[in-house]
Amino acid sequence: MRNLLAGNWKMNGLASSLAEIDMLKELTGSATCDIVVCPPFTLIEKAAEQVRGSHIAIGAQDCHSKPSGAFTSDISASMLCDVGARFVILGHSERRAVYHESNLTVARKAAAAHGAGLTSIICVGETRAERDDGVALDVVRRQLRGSLPATATGCNTALAYEPVWAIGTGLVPTLEQIDEIHQSLRHILVQELGEEGRAVRILYGGSVKSSNAASIFDVADVNGALVGGASLKASDFAEIISAAA
Ligand code: G3H
Repeated sequence: MRNLLAGNWKMNGLASSLAEIDMLKELTGSATCDIVVCPPFTLIEKAAEQVRGSHIAIGAQDCHSKPSGAFTSDISASMLCDVGARFVILGHSERRAVYHESNLTVARKAAAAHGAGLTSIICVGETRAERDDGVALDVVRRQLRGSLPATATGCNTALAYEPVWAIGTGLVPTLEQIDEIHQSLRHILVQELGEEGRAVRILYGGSVKSSNAASIFDVADVNGALVGGASLKASDFAEIISAAA
């Protein structure tokens, strides 16, 4: 299975930041993994034009579950496709925490994304308190079961395990902890999707950088990474990509 490396720019990036995508294209021309950059909505159309015909795809960081309607400020999955996005991150812990997105909301958004032809990257992950209470596995299992729509297949869905306490903190779970969670997520994917579940790529996210990427990618059932801060600079992201390629 090819690794998937996705960069989540979050609410960062102005038009001038698009130069990083050109640089990333040059630095990763020989990569043997799939690469996605998810800039803010405002840059998607230009970014998609920049990467047209290249080995890099563009994704969004959220979408609405409805195709259109009176939802001021929201963006639908078909609108994202229309401007050249191919992927969409859904259920990121920042969306779950700040906007109270439930598993059901995430599942509906993922179904809408699939209907529009997008690949969803569905995020799950426990908080520090849940990890300390020994319920991390229960939490991510419940999130996955509740967030996976009936439309999910091995092709249109990727999963990202992102422990909330590892995001932007420099803290990373042990390789054993990552392994335990990824194995469990794979088990559920196969239970829910049958053989298709084996084709779903499970990414790790949370303080991935060039110094820890190679050891994380060596863990069985880690099929790539969802990278935040270190995806903002092409040179940093390219080093992580080279560890996976
Ligand atoms: O979506 C990306 C994650 O939230 C990870 O962010 O690499 O800055 O820790 P980070």
